[in-house]
Amino acid sequence: MKHVLDIDDLSAEEIETLYELTDQIKADPGAFDDSLANESLVMLFAKPSTRTRISFESGMTELGGHAIYFSKEHSQIARGESLRDTATVLSRYAGGIMARLFDHETLLELADGADGPVINGLTNKLHPCQALADGYTLRENGLDDGPLAYIGDGNNVAHSLMQLCATLDIPCRIGTPDGFEPDQEIQDRVAGADVMVTNDPVKAVAGARAVYTDVFVSMGDDESKRSAFEGFQVTPELMAETDDAAFMHCLPAHRGEEVSAAVMDGENSIVYDQAENRKHVQKAILQTVYET
Ligand code: CP
Ligand code: NVA
Repeated sequence: MKHVLDIDDLSAEEIETLYELTDQIKADPGAFDDSLANESLVMLFAKPSTRTRISFESGMTELGGHAIYFSKEHSQIARGESLRDTATVLSRYAGGIMARLFDHETLLELADGADGPVINGLTNKLHPCQALADGYTLRENGLDDGPLAYIGDGNNVAHSLMQLCATLDIPCRIGTPDGFEPDQEIQDRVAGADVMVTNDPVKAVAGARAVYTDVFVSMGDDESKRSAFEGFQVTPELMAETDDAAFMHCLPAHRGEEVSAAVMDGENSIVYDQAENRKHVQKAILQTVYET
């Protein structure tokens, strides 16, 4: 495994190996406390972040390495330096790069120029580290037989979840308003897997073991799209259509918008364990990509 740009970069076997390593790291973090000694990770951000930034930074510290926050806005990229030159030079200073960017193509350009591993910390198209942590959370809670129901916008998080479910054979149901379905290109990639896309949220959650949502308006999206999501809030009524399903959210959450407070803060919510697992799984990712 060199880069982690897209769930399709990983096989089911590689994800299982990653999860076994995550189990070890989570159970005994001290056993890995110098495994990346003297290694650096450059974290390039073109968008805001709470979880991704801090979980990668604290994860790198816990592995004995160092993470460097690098804001695109304050870099020479903002003054026109090419991604390729930037990646080439960063590779002379640090063993790896994690990047959160707008266009997925830009990330591919960065990865192309880098000598070491590049990890996708979210693009407009994909959020693979989130999905990998979510798959681990499903497995840890015995929910990985599915179905996983995702309600809301057919966005980067939905795309990576669909791919993860297809790779790991987890039935997946996507419920979005008309016009906000996942990209056809991603739907085509998972054709053949047990992935259903519908405009009916009740149909999407039927039989679900876990119900997942994300913000209606992603970073960089036009605020005007919000009004299209009426009827797609995850409410106690929608959860009642399931047989005691768990509730998941990649966070940040907007109570009263994509999820009601009663669900977000209810006893079936596993959102904070889900967020914590970002760090454990990413430590396993770092450990794996720096080794290879
Ligand atoms: N879920 C997630 O990626 O959160 P941040 O935007 O806070 O990093
Ligand atoms: N879909 C959201 C995810 C945030 C973690 C966004 O891109 O803003």
